Amino acid sequence: MSDNGNIESILHEDRIFPPPEKFNDRIGGAYINSMEKYDEMYARSMEDPDGFWGEVADQLDWFERWDTVSSGAFPDAKWFEGGKTNVCHNCIDRQINMGHGDDTAIIWEGEPTIGSGGSGEVRTLTYHDLHVEVCKFANALKSQGVKKGDVVTIYMGMVPELAIATLACARIGAPHSVIFGGFSSQAIADRVEDAKSKVVVTCDGSWRRGKVVPLKYNVDAATELTDLIEKVIVVKRCENEIAWNDERDIWWHEVCENQEDECPCESMDAEDMLFLLYTSGSTGKPKGIIHTTGGYMVYTYLTSKWVFNLRPDTDQVYWCTADIGWITGHSYIIYGVLPNRVPTLMYEGAPNFPEPDRFWNIVERHKVTQFYTAPTAIRAFMKWGDEHPKKHDLSSLNLLGTVGEPINPEAWMWYREIIGGSNCPIVDTWWQTETGGQMLTPLPGATPTTPGSCTRPFFGVDAAIVQEDGTEVDTNSGGLLVVRKPWPGILRGIFGDRDRFVDTYFGRIDGMYLAGDSARVDENGNFWIMGRIDDVINVSGHRLGTMEVESSLVSHESVVEAAVVGVPHEIKGTGIAAFCTLAGGFEPSEELKQTLRKHVANEIGAIAKPDMLKFTDALPKTRSGKIMRRLLRDVAAGTDSKQDITTLEDFTVIAKLRAED
Ligand code: WTA
Repeated sequence: MSDNGNIESILHEDRIFPPPEKFNDRIGGAYINSMEKYDEMYARSMEDPDGFWGEVADQLDWFERWDTVSSGAFPDAKWFEGGKTNVCHNCIDRQINMGHGDDTAIIWEGEPTIGSGGSGEVRTLTYHDLHVEVCKFANALKSQGVKKGDVVTIYMGMVPELAIATLACARIGAPHSVIFGGFSSQAIADRVEDAKSKVVVTCDGSWRRGKVVPLKYNVDAATELTDLIEKVIVVKRCENEIAWNDERDIWWHEVCENQEDECPCESMDAEDMLFLLYTSGSTGKPKGIIHTTGGYMVYTYLTSKWVFNLRPDTDQVYWCTADIGWITGHSYIIYGVLPNRVPTLMYEGAPNFPEPDRFWNIVERHKVTQFYTAPTAIRAFMKWGDEHPKKHDLSSLNLLGTVGEPINPEAWMWYREIIGGSNCPIVDTWWQTETGGQMLTPLPGATPTTPGSCTRPFFGVDAAIVQEDGTEVDTNSGGLLVVRKPWPGILRGIFGDRDRFVDTYFGRIDGMYLAGDSARVDENGNFWIMGRIDDVINVSGHRLGTMEVESSLVSHESVVEAAVVGVPHEIKGTGIAAFCTLAGGFEPSEELKQTLRKHVANEIGAIAKPDMLKFTDALPKTRSGKIMRRLLRDVAAGTDSKQDITTLEDFTVIAKLRAED
């Protein structure tokens, strides 16, 4: 059922850590400071969700008040219908209107180091600065014909202009579709086609481990694969050489130069689309997850506030290390954080450039107080050695968070002790692109934590573990993780595919949102995620469909059939193992292996490159023709952890034997 290798150790975990005593003082007081308070507030959020969420929404600005807080049921639940607002307004203008225009909104650090002390170039943007930049770019987009409702594709590195571009889109009501800078030209073209997007915003290149990722080159290649792209706006970042098409390409700095620095916020219906974000599912091509304005804004605002205990007017500096190309970056670098008026730090590059202590160097220099990262990064840091964090003063840290995949208890303990000095609560947050924001999570001043468990539901989240018929399973029994009531941040659809939306999330268990993960609840009421129930694997915290990798393999002339499974991987959590049968005229060779790995990288992106690739005469199948993935997983795991004893012959024999069952 699961692709993660940590279940055994999780099952025997009984260490419990109450919130550190000092936490309440250090962080300017915890918003939620006891389990009694949590229980009481949770109960209220279940009994009176409209009252609860209405009060939260009242903390933000609305141009027109909503008629109803929540309405409708799955799959068509709506939030704040009749209300009008603008997310960009709440991120920027609202802070300025309240007299905080000179407060720091974004702290950005570039990857290349300059000068002494290991610092990269640093740019700090106040809310005023951000306002000017966002308005100019919003006007620039308009000058290129972008109107409310037009999808703008963004394929950039982690530069301030990426945040500016998303906020500018939100300001004028043009939904953005951000594509992670590690994806390929084909992936760009597919998403552009699906979203019917005519404008792409990119950079000449982006810095990654001292090298330039040729973003503009990839967009150029995408324009060969689709003829939809009419305009490409290019941020000059790396000054690498790029090709230029006068009709299509425009420099960011030139198109912004003469724009007005005021641009009114479009008045958006609460249910107007804010953005599209493509993510992998178990079948077919990636799906464009739709998030709308009001509910997403309110949900990410509140989760940011209470899960990270964000407090303005303190010395807090919040850093989420995700790329804005993923949902974590959308919700917890930009949209949830800016309305809370705590500086959000953006770092451009790799954690180990120029040295494996780069993150800790950043924490020390910027005095980061809340730090949010992925288990895969923590495992890499552990491997690189304690000496790197130990070189730095990390005493500014008050809170640590993780997201993206299950964290193994060993990594959790290391994070707590070596990074947190045993003094910081860890919030292990479970959520998904589809949920918009955190769903199962400790509250840092209240929840006792246990390594490997994401603990309790957030307010308003009616999470449960059920069987196929929708009935709850017993304590500690594995089952399907579902949410039984709509919450404000839920996806509103899959772009252009209503049936897939309804079938995937609501088609299997009547009246419930099916997350696609298996999980259990222990005797203390804590949730433990066990793994995906579908053919999605989680590679370094990034979601990938095994089918996507299979399709890209069979799109190569040499491959007739391919099966891809997850295999436990020390750093990535799950690695990718591929089994391929070859077409006549092709012989297995090391060279072909490398060609195929490269082919997948070209088709999808480097993150999808198989870690292990095996050629086989036949794939093990059941009588009904289904590929026996479990067997392949065993084979892959066996070869990965021990010597390469599984020869092709052995494998074929096993496959044949099992097929007789
Ligand atoms: C997994 C990332 C265990 C899970 C925000 C989920 C986790 C998928 C955790 C969503 C966690 C995310 N513990 N597993 N704390 N957080 N996952 O859409 O399988 O990129 O369904 O969203 O990641 O991945 P996505």
